[in-house]
Amino acid sequence: MPAGSFPAPKRRSGRGGDALDLLHREHLMHRKVLSDFEELCEGSSKDIATLAVNLRGFLREEYLDHRADEEEMLFPLLRKRCIAEDKIDAVIHKIELGRKTGAEEYAAVIGILVDLISKDRVPLTPEIEMLQRFVDRERRQLIAEDAIILPIARCRLTKAELNQIYISILRRRGFDRLPWGSGC
Ligand SMILES: [Fe+2]
Repeated sequence: MPAGSFPAPKRRSGRGGDALDLLHREHLMHRKVLSDFEELCEGSSKDIATLAVNLRGFLREEYLDHRADEEEMLFPLLRKRCIAEDKIDAVIHKIELGRKTGAEEYAAVIGILVDLISKDRVPLTPEIEMLQRFVDRERRQLIAEDAIILPIARCRLTKAELNQIYISILRRRGFDRLPWGSGC
């Protein structure tokens, strides 16, 4: 799957879909994108510009949509439903803090990609260091989300809440306007 491709939900005969499965599949896509970043840093790609275009496309679209799904839908519902011993607030707070402090990094990464595309060149050492910091931060977040957030959400959220998230994911990407997306 090329970077920047939303893992479209499979056509379902019944109503509704699995929001957590979709988010997990997006995490798998994120992991592939992070590997692509490393390929970019290594300079081993034959087509740096195309790789950088794909990565920029992912960061400007799917990446932001995914974060919005979690921050606007998943995290508030988890905070509402989890019990104190889940300690979910601390986990979400850490993720949100990481995203907040990573905002400058995000802008810098986009800037690097734009420059690589326009000049069709490999990244320089300080740029590689910045890209690697971004990759490392993203990987840490994915680990926390896959190991803690999604399993707890599966346990605590109701079917109706999960369906609410699923519909929101489809709407954000315009999939609800497709014939097979309207059944949710
Ligand atoms: Fe996520």
